[in-house]
Amino acid sequence: KTVDTTSDWIVQRTGIRNRYIVGEGETTSTLATGAARKALAAAGLTAADVDLIIVATATPDYTFPATATQVQAALGVTRGAAFDLQAVCSGFVFGVSVAEKFIATGSSTCALVIGAETFSRILDWSDRTTCVLFGDGAAAVVLQATPRDEGVQLEKLGCYGESREILRIHGIGGAYVHQGRLLGATEWQFEGQDIFKKAVHGMGSACEDVLRRAGLTPEAIDLVIPHQANLRIIEFVAKRAGVPMERVYVNVHRYGNMSAATVPVALCEALEEGRIAPGARLLMPAFGGGLTFCAHLVRWGTRTQPIGLSSIDLPPSPHSALELVQRYRRAKGHALT
Ligand code: ACO
Repeated sequence: KTVDTTSDWIVQRTGIRNRYIVGEGETTSTLATGAARKALAAAGLTAADVDLIIVATATPDYTFPATATQVQAALGVTRGAAFDLQAVCSGFVFGVSVAEKFIATGSSTCALVIGAETFSRILDWSDRTTCVLFGDGAAAVVLQATPRDEGVQLEKLGCYGESREILRIHGIGGAYVHQGRLLGATEWQFEGQDIFKKAVHGMGSACEDVLRRAGLTPEAIDLVIPHQANLRIIEFVAKRAGVPMERVYVNVHRYGNMSAATVPVALCEALEEGRIAPGARLLMPAFGGGLTFCAHLVRWGTRTQPIGLSSIDLPPSPHSALELVQRYRRAKGHALT
């Protein structure tokens, strides 16, 4: 046992039953590259088609160069911009907004938007209030121009900057460099109940705003694909949006909070499970550190089956998740003494 907690506490308060953490050789960019290859195969495209790469992540491999540049190099993409987007858990959905603008203005014709995180590397594994909530993961989508009335129909993005300090990670970043502090020995500032309330308010009001401007009632939404941080937050947001839980996609029990990766992983799984029909209306609310929030109304296209499949997979880790966590804890303990 590493921290004083129980499965019952975690399941009851969060709905989380299972989480994944990456093996030693993996980083955010290796996860992002694998996800990108799978997305390209599903879209029947190759690296030569891509002219924009956005990686939404709060856990980049390095401060610079950006994780997206490593993905670009690994895929062999030679055209267009590649950059990271930092809006923590809202990052992927913010990235969809950015890519959509690139495409709408003609700057890009084929964009990869990737949500990828390795929170296992920045968690404080001695802090039970946060280390039980997060997991690692990645997923990607390809966006292309279309003359049809598809894609992002309406969006609401926002930020409660005045409350940014209720969710903050110490020990990484420019504020800590040359200050005599050990970089990477992270500590979390996390006011769970306040974050919970802001998450419900931010995502709930963004959903209401988008539905009102679209002139739609909640019955018109085929599936809500929300940020997956906590089952109770999802239930409150669904209630506020007026959509019953049968039309809300939930997989937080399988992965925990994978930050920017939660919405794209949920989107991919919803597709694989046949929950998204051609032309479906999707509502995608997200919330994260910052405190960023958003909701997007998306009209799905005609294709719901992948054109191709990529066989790429992560190699099995020789170490169990518990062994890795114990190693991180030991390393931090040694470094601080
Ligand atoms: N195991 C056992 N007990 C625990 C644990 C744990 N892992 N963590 C906290 N507790 C204890 C607390 O110490 C407290 O004990 P006390 O009553 O003796 O003081 C008790 O459990 C209740 O703690 P609360 O914080 O009041 O529990 P709450 O019901 O609020 O649930 C939770 C905590 C799950 C963190 C919730 O507040 C939450 O989900 N908040 C939102 C977090 C989130 O989803 N953030 C999304 C953005 S994250 C990002 O952007 C990076």
